[in-house]
Amino acid sequence: MKVAVLGSGGREHALALKISESPSLSQLFILPGNPGTKSLGQNVEININDFTEVIRFCKNNSIDLVVIGPEQPLVNGLADKLRKEGIAVFGPSKEAARLEGEKSFAKQLMYENNIPTAAFKIFQKDEKEHVLSYLRSSKYPIVLKADGIAAGKGVVIVNSFPEAQNSVQDYFEKSIFGKAGSKIVIEEFMEGQEASVFAITDGSDYFVLPPAQDHKRIGEGDVGKNTGGMGAYAPAPIVNDKVLEKIKKGIIEPTLKAMRMKGSEFSGCLYCGLMLIEDEPKVVEFNCRFGDPETQAVLPLLDGDFLKLLYSAAKGKLDKNSVIYNGGASVCVVAASKGYPDHYEKGKEIKGIDSIHEPDVIIYYAGTKEKDGKIFTNGGRVLGVTSIIKKNDLIAAKQRSYEALNRLYFDGIYYRKDISDKALKYISNT
Ligand code: AMP
Ligand code: GLY
Repeated sequence: MKVAVLGSGGREHALALKISESPSLSQLFILPGNPGTKSLGQNVEININDFTEVIRFCKNNSIDLVVIGPEQPLVNGLADKLRKEGIAVFGPSKEAARLEGEKSFAKQLMYENNIPTAAFKIFQKDEKEHVLSYLRSSKYPIVLKADGIAAGKGVVIVNSFPEAQNSVQDYFEKSIFGKAGSKIVIEEFMEGQEASVFAITDGSDYFVLPPAQDHKRIGEGDVGKNTGGMGAYAPAPIVNDKVLEKIKKGIIEPTLKAMRMKGSEFSGCLYCGLMLIEDEPKVVEFNCRFGDPETQAVLPLLDGDFLKLLYSAAKGKLDKNSVIYNGGASVCVVAASKGYPDHYEKGKEIKGIDSIHEPDVIIYYAGTKEKDGKIFTNGGRVLGVTSIIKKNDLIAAKQRSYEALNRLYFDGIYYRKDISDKALKYISNT
């Protein structure tokens, strides 16, 4: 099978690596890929938001399956366009990707189908007085969200009315998120533990990957600014069997069913971003794709033929027996550039990658660039250092990841030292 993976981050490196292990793969292309994916297949310098170019490449190379990594091309309808050309795609249609692309759509769907989520209200740009009077009488903290995609920056948690008023001004008057902020969702603040659960689905049937936990904030102990994610581990013990059953029956199944009923069947990876409040899961957000960095931690925990899983989902007949959880544990720590998530420098040489040979440590490349055989930083999140332990021992996995990180260096390297610590209290309780 000839496969094209679209994207250039750590998530796409992880997808490409797992797909490259499949016996049914004949050729792998990564568009545009990164220095880490180069050894797994052929990197092709194409802008994945230029749909004409992507389609031309796939047709010219008789691609059998396209796996779309990031949300933007999905939300803009790339999957529909490829399918129209007869090319199989792992990823939802434009209509189904609204679950991520329009928070108001997702919230309305959850409300109508009794899917647990934070209480909410939706306001349009021309309802400024309404929104302010609502916020004046609200309980704080409260959460304000831009309706559309805002590069992960459209969510603010505010502690008082004046703060909320400033944010409304940012969305509606300063238009800092452009069209994405012309509608806002105001949500009740939920206090609990977050978890990420990915369901691989053909629209009806689904297979749940080992649950993971991301670390969104820049600082240890979950303080400071929100980032794309500073590290992840899996499996997350907080999602025990009982909780997982609630997620399947109360969230995944009714969501897939509601999408089918609307005629917008969701196929691909349904990413459930959850808040667990004393064993009760509530949806924080849905995404229409794999998470980054959770994917880097989750995929190494699968044995079997991952490509077969994705292809069968894309063809509308999921083969749930193609993969199985291998019983292990993994910890992925993101090494970031100094200054991230704000302004950061690029072009710093990365040293020490050659010193890491352990078979159970994977260095996923993200914001990186190769020049004259050397690797340089080229983004905020640079590498995802991941270790995999054959048995479910997160403590050992964490130790190995940090040992490997100690041997890596670039000017301004920053990483959190506490990735996976949140799991410890659940492990000692079991
Ligand atoms: P989102 O982009 O919707 O995932 O929001 C980004 C982050 O903001 C989430 O990962 C949570 O940490 C936080 N967040 C979003 N919505 C809520 C909420 N209703 N209550 C508490 N925290 C939230
Ligand atoms: N790790 C968060 C995300 O992928 O949206």
